[in-house]
Amino acid sequence: SGLVVAMDGPSGSGKSSASRGVARALGLRYLDTGAMYRAVTWWMLQQKVDLADPQAIAARSGEPSLIMSTDPDAPGVSVDGVDVNGPIRGPEVTGAVSAVSAVPEVRRRLVALQQEIIAESLPGGGIVVEGRDIGTVVAPDAPVKVYLTASADARARRRTAELTGTTVETQKAEMARRDTLDSTRKADPLASAADAIELDTTPLTLDDVIAEVLRFVKE
Ligand code: C5P
Repeated sequence: SGLVVAMDGPSGSGKSSASRGVARALGLRYLDTGAMYRAVTWWMLQQKVDLADPQAIAARSGEPSLIMSTDPDAPGVSVDGVDVNGPIRGPEVTGAVSAVSAVPEVRRRLVALQQEIIAESLPGGGIVVEGRDIGTVVAPDAPVKVYLTASADARARRRTAELTGTTVETQKAEMARRDTLDSTRKADPLASAADAIELDTTPLTLDDVIAEVLRFVKE
């Protein structure tokens, strides 16, 4: 027993806030898998691994040790004991993460770690997991799968509001670049699971999105 809620979708779709809200409302744990790919990317940059060389990334992919906090009120990630929650949101990591997440060895390792965290959460009630491949690869048996979308403008506006010193146009271009890389890579591309409920969050408030997902959970 224990409930797994899979929340997939591109950045700016409102995934993180909605996932945390759903986890809080249901008393579940919360896992941000994007933070895991970002943390590995931060470590690769720190180690000066050549990110244009997938084999170099693959060769070092087993080295960084990740610890995840799954508290929806205080989510976080540390790498080799270093809290990286600030730096993983910066432009350097954001610009490089798609190259790292495209490497199959990186994905294999992180998917295994995600599945361990999910299994550990089940006795306590379960977990809301957000990412790009949760309903398709990480937790294909999850009883609730949601795929969030939003218009390019809405996504860029939300992301710009979270950051400083950037513009909607810059964010729109950056998101389009990352979407293309994430959805055309060979390993576990961003895609909605056949049995996922699609929710367009463009006209919705955060509370609306949370209420919709809670309605799916009760059905
Ligand atoms: O969700 P977020 O924007 O933090 O994700 C950062 C990047 O991590 C994505 O652009 C994607 O390349 C990668 N990612 C992934 N699979 C996931 C979650 C994130 O490939 N489940």
